[in-house]
Formats: sequence, C-alpha cells, structure tokens
Amino acid sequence: MNICVYKDAEAIGTAAAALFAACVTQNPRCVLGLATGSSPLPTYQKMAEMYRAGAVDFSGVTTYNLDEYVGIDHTHAQSYYCFMMENLFRHINVKQENIHVPSGVAPDLEKECADYEAAIEAAGGIDLQILGIGRNGHIAFNEPSDSFPPATHTVELTESTINANKRFFASADDVPRRAVTTGIGTIMKARAIVLVATGADKAEAVRAMAKGPVTPRCPASILQFHPRATILLDEAAASLL
Ligand code: F6R
Repeated sequence: MNICVYKDAEAIGTAAAALFAACVTQNPRCVLGLATGSSPLPTYQKMAEMYRAGAVDFSGVTTYNLDEYVGIDHTHAQSYYCFMMENLFRHINVKQENIHVPSGVAPDLEKECADYEAAIEAAGGIDLQILGIGRNGHIAFNEPSDSFPPATHTVELTESTINANKRFFASADDVPRRAVTTGIGTIMKARAIVLVATGADKAEAVRAMAKGPVTPRCPASILQFHPRATILLDEAAASLL
C-alpha cells in the first residue's frame, strides 16, 4: 500500500478528488465505487468544485455505493442514498440512472445482495473505489469477524459502529442494527482503491491496517494485498505508524 500523509482533511480531499478526476478523464465511462460517512466529504466537495470549473464531466460515469442500512428506504433522510444525493450527486452531472445504492428494504435481501454484486460485475467492475475506515478496522460494513466476506451480504452492525454512527440519528436507539454491504471480495476486485482517514481516533485502526497482520479481525488489513491501494492520512491518523 502507498501511504501519503497530508496536513489536513482538505488537502486529503484535493488529492483524492484528483485521483477521481484522473480516472474519469482517462475513461469517461468509468465505474466509481463510493462511500458515505465523514471521511469522503472533502473529496466530494472537491469533485463538485472541479465539475463546476468545467474540469471534469461525470455524464458517462456509473457509480456503486458500498452500503445501505436495512429497514431504511431511499427517501429516508438518514439513508445513504440521501446522503449521497445531498453531498455529491446533486452537485455533479452524473446521470440518475447510473447511480446505484443497495436497497435496505428489498423484500428479498439475499436476492438484492446477489443482484447488486452481479450488477457491479456486469458494469465491468469498479475502476476506483473510495473507502473510509471504522475505528474497529471495518471497511464498508465488513465488521471484524473470522473470515473475509467474499461478496455483497447483510450484516449485523457492531456496538462500536452503532455508537460511531449515532451522530447522524436522534439517538443510538434509532440507528439501524443491520446493513447491506459489499464484501471484502467486492472491494478487492476494484482496480484501484483510495482510503482516506483523519483524526487520532482512527490512528489505532490505521496502524492495524497497515502494520498489523492481515486478518479478518481487522478487515482493512486485506488492503496490504491490493496492488493499487493508496492510503491518504492526516498526521493524527498516521501517528501510530
Ligand atoms: C460508509 C462506510 C463506512 C465508513 C466508516 C468511516 O459507506 O462504508 O465503512 O467509511 O465507518 O466512517 P467516517 O468516515 O464517518 O468516520
């Protein structure tokens, strides 16, 4: 993995957005893998700025998001679909029909997972995937476990993740307990990956990811085996390396 340390979240956002701009410029019909949460927000702001400046055209791009809460539909304000609309999609010219976020309310969630995985493959696979990292080392909603999940699946969220995400909800009790998430296998098939992390509360997870053993107890550690994984950190997140 290629680890770069920047002075702050804005500088990380500029660097990550440049990777997206390069991907879209090289292949205007590329497939982008996107994440929610706080970490990618500066990247999305920079991508929107580049679009407004006429530097990047997203009209041919297809997007697949990593995950969605179970039991929350895409009109719900806390859905990851709404998050993406609010923070990226409505600020760039990606076509509505090219946007994909898994459904957390599909009547048959197993089928939804299989269909989502198949749709990514049918689209030609993900060219560039952005990731954040959980304090427990999760990527997407692949929580620490005994094995690396190969494909899109449903998962029970850990207390650590529920606690970290309660800031988006009225209370911890309102945070859904389950999610649909792409698997570690899905993520590792991306041709290139950029993981962004800031702040001291991510330092231990970043250390385990980059310097610890490759183990499903720290799902992000699998990125040590990705040939094109770029890790963008601020000094606080890099402080235990
Ligand atoms: C979001 C996702 C999660 C987050 C992670 C970090 O789609 O899949 O893995 O990337 O929980 O979240 P933040 O960036 O809010 O610290």
